[in-house]
Amino acid sequence: MTLKNTADRWGPVSQAFHWIIMLLILGLATVGLTMGELPKTPKYFWVFTAHKSIGITVLVLVLARLAWRLYAGRPDPVPGTPGWQERIASVTHWLLYALILLMPVSGWLYDSASGLRPFRWFGLFDMPKLVPPDEGLRGLAHEVHEWGFWVLAALVCVHAGAALYHHYFQRDATLLRMLPGGSPRIGDNAPSPPAPHRNPADVP
Ligand code: HEM
Ligand code: HEM
Repeated sequence: MTLKNTADRWGPVSQAFHWIIMLLILGLATVGLTMGELPKTPKYFWVFTAHKSIGITVLVLVLARLAWRLYAGRPDPVPGTPGWQERIASVTHWLLYALILLMPVSGWLYDSASGLRPFRWFGLFDMPKLVPPDEGLRGLAHEVHEWGFWVLAALVCVHAGAALYHHYFQRDATLLRMLPGGSPRIGDNAPSPPAPHRNPADVP
């Protein structure tokens, strides 16, 4: 078994990056959207530090994922996919990459410009500040962090919707080849054949 992506499916490394990053972003979004309500007292600081630490971890994972993607390539488009669909998928994927980089970077910038004490990454070491305290930049980074998230959420809905559409309606291997498990069966990569034509007169 090869770790790299092959012509007809994503390899285990790309799959692991995809699903682990997805789960971490889901967790970050849930915590991010609720932690604003928490009292800003030392008792709850660990929630903010956990969000920031996991967010920086996502940044490192996305950079590693991009490096792997450039090295390991991607599978060929599923046979039968129209060119325009291929182009939309490609633009969507690169936008997703841009947003999952923008989210941790804007968060880190927001934290840096706030002039707070450096936070310790999972309690292990102090994270460096990207910029000195700056009220204007702090506000801008916060806006980008908040709005960037809603754009990401909308795009993920379209993206996941497209994957499910391929799986349940087109019945091709688009989703299966991003899931762990055996190779998609031969033919899964192809669009489903048209239903056989039946002449009503043939029916007994
Ligand atoms: C992929 C990574 C990340 C995602 C998906 C994410 C997501 C979110 C979301 C959805 C919110 C709520 C936005 C709002 O309504 O204000 C939020 C808030 C916040 N995030 Fe992140 N975040 C990420 C990374 C980071 C990082 C790396 C840091 C800092 C180092 C950070 C710091 C913060 C802070 C301080 C808030 C609270 C904002 C406030 O005071 O309202 N985030 N995050
Ligand atoms: C935070 C959520 C998600 C993000 C950021 C994300 C991001 C991405 C990116 C960037 C790619 C392109 C890979 C590449 O070309 O290098 C991709 C591929 C893919 N994603 Fe997601 N994804 C998310 C959630 C989901 C969900 C929920 C599903 C399924 C329901 C899904 C199904 C797929 C599939 C099937 C592919 C492969 C498409 C192909 O082979 O052309 N993703 N994803």
